[in-house]
Amino acid sequence: MNRDALLELATRLAREAGALAVSMRDGVEELASKSSPTDAVTAADRAVERLLVEGIRAVRPDDGILGEEGAADDGTSGVRWVIDPIDGTVNYLYGLTGWAVSVGVEIDGAAVAGAVFAPVRGELWQGVLGGGARLNGKPLRCSAATELSRSLVGTGFGYDARRRAAQARVLPALLPAVRDVRREGAGALDLCSVAAGRLDAYFEQGLSPWDLSAGGLIAREAGARVEGLRGCEASFDLVIAASPGVFDALHDLLAEHDAAADPLA
Ligand code: IPD
Ligand code: CA
Ligand code: CA
Repeated sequence: MNRDALLELATRLAREAGALAVSMRDGVEELASKSSPTDAVTAADRAVERLLVEGIRAVRPDDGILGEEGAADDGTSGVRWVIDPIDGTVNYLYGLTGWAVSVGVEIDGAAVAGAVFAPVRGELWQGVLGGGARLNGKPLRCSAATELSRSLVGTGFGYDARRRAAQARVLPALLPAVRDVRREGAGALDLCSVAAGRLDAYFEQGLSPWDLSAGGLIAREAGARVEGLRGCEASFDLVIAASPGVFDALHDLLAEHDAAADPLA
């Protein structure tokens, strides 16, 4: 399976999807909510997922697809597309620029290619397993940070109020230990920011595969560590993406404060 060809298709579709989302932005309204009243969905989320699914099927009918707005097909080829049509829907709804189309490609469960396109910013992020990560064609390297106390750390909050309350309980320990904290509102872009050194680290509980697939690969290919707690894989429980020089310090602080404990369990 040619990883570069998969990346090329992911990139073309992410660009087309981004253009469609931009064209639907004017007058956008909240159509419905999903997991909680704050978890919005717009007509664009659904239309963009449709475009991506049709685009994948037209070229690779045997592949699996997992999408946030409902696409779920195992396929038979061993290749699976993991897509978030709009990551950062709340930003999209409010006219903020921090949203992106995220298209990850996995072979037998491992991410091999990923494209994250933030159309309003004109930023295309790409990663290929073993082939590096790029922003608008320029190779990326994560930051050389070595001290957590001088690190800029991104995080995000889920839509469930109980999860948010638990996430908030980590912040009093984190804030005095770091340079500052950022909350962009799009997990895929947070991971790309780690890849580019715009953040030294990022962590979040409750990410779904479509938030993580492409951005996680891009961060890793830029030299970042992307893991969970105590050697676990990055997952819904916790994603920590950090420059190698500050990963352990952030990991230990998050472990001490039980950042992977599920408040809904
Ligand atoms: C959300 C964003 C947000 C993160 C949430 C995600 P959506 O995705 O990535 O930054 O904090 O956990 O669910 O709903 O905008 O696709
Ligand atoms: Ca998302
Ligand atoms: Ca989404």
